[in-house]
Amino acid sequence: MADRTILVTGGAGFIGSEFVRRAVSAGSYVITLDALTYAGNRSTLAAVESSDSHLFVHGSITDRALVNKLLADHRPNAIINFAAESHVDRSIDGPGAFIDTNVNGVFELLEAARAYCESGAPANFRFLQISTDEVYGSIADGRSDEASPLAPNSPYAASKASADHLVRAYNRTYGLPAIVTRASNNYGPYQFPEKLIPLMILNAAALKPLPVYGDGKQRREWIHVSDHCVAIETILAHGKPGEIYNVGGGGDAANIDIVRRLCEIVDELCPTPTSRASLVTYVADRPAHDQRYALDTSKIQDELGWQPAIAFEEGIIRTVRWYLENEAWWRQIQDSNYRGERLGLAVQATG
Ligand SMILES: NC(=O)c1ccc[n+]([C@@H]2O[C@H](COP(=O)([O-])OP(=O)(O)OC[C@H]3O[C@@H](n4cnc5c(N)ncnc54)[C@H](O)[C@@H]3O)[C@@H](O)[C@H]2O)c1
Repeated sequence: MADRTILVTGGAGFIGSEFVRRAVSAGSYVITLDALTYAGNRSTLAAVESSDSHLFVHGSITDRALVNKLLADHRPNAIINFAAESHVDRSIDGPGAFIDTNVNGVFELLEAARAYCESGAPANFRFLQISTDEVYGSIADGRSDEASPLAPNSPYAASKASADHLVRAYNRTYGLPAIVTRASNNYGPYQFPEKLIPLMILNAAALKPLPVYGDGKQRREWIHVSDHCVAIETILAHGKPGEIYNVGGGGDAANIDIVRRLCEIVDELCPTPTSRASLVTYVADRPAHDQRYALDTSKIQDELGWQPAIAFEEGIIRTVRWYLENEAWWRQIQDSNYRGERLGLAVQATG
């Protein structure tokens, strides 16, 4: 008998799948609802595919009738919404899908959750919205705390900020026991190879050019995906409804330094006569590329006692090894829907 039931949306993606694997092995019954967009893969959930504690449902968070049925049939103790269009470059090329899922989809989920609560959800039911540091926009120095103004600069960030506002409004207006988490950049196994770290690892391993946007000096804070999921578990158990919690790995690093470190690690694991650092190629910057994100995480540390456990240096070596050892996983993605091409070069309006 499972200790609790969780509806995880977007659980066939990078972070959601890590959460699902952890929750199932910790004794929860998990229903994964995923639309299997280009970014979602059943193979990412292979570890729980045959478990009696996991049910996969192919469908969209925009389908309120389906979500209502899942809530009525399974009576979960929590909904954790990872489902999203998540790649900034794709939001530049085609923002519509981001509004559909990240705004309208969250609205449909919130409506379903509201009806579920009104008809008697289990005590301590929670709705967790997984958000991002990108909603704060670029900051020159210091760190964004939960009260910092939102200043999203990409359609992706704007859609996530919109969802954060909706979640807040449903908590204030209807008393929905909802919490927003805002994490920094995640890295780790099973990340779709369009994102910086897996793209660079796979290109470096294949001795292909390493495209670095602009001058490569944009700074990001990185968190290992399993540290992020521990934070989500902590917030689910002890977080306060109506609150927002930043979840960051600490520090911040320039993209070019991350790429150079990845080159060193790949060189150590697969030596070649010339260092992969020579493959770095500076390419046109992303429009409205944020210069720096960094989170103040004192709230989750002080109030909930969470802090990251995996140092970046340790986590990044493990991650490079994982990609080198799991070619079957990323090869089928490259063969089916992503070959490393450049995305997100909008033409700027003039005048
Ligand atoms: N990756 C990061 O660095 C990061 C950092 C902070 C926050 N986040 C947030 O965490 C969440 C998960 O990010 P990720 O990197 O795992 O994303 P991802 O792109 O790897 O996975 C997203 C998943 O959502 C699914 N999905 C998309 N639209 C859907 C819909 N309409 N209905 C149901 N499923 C749908 C996809 O099929 C995919 O499985 C997102 O909400 C993202 O905004 C990500």
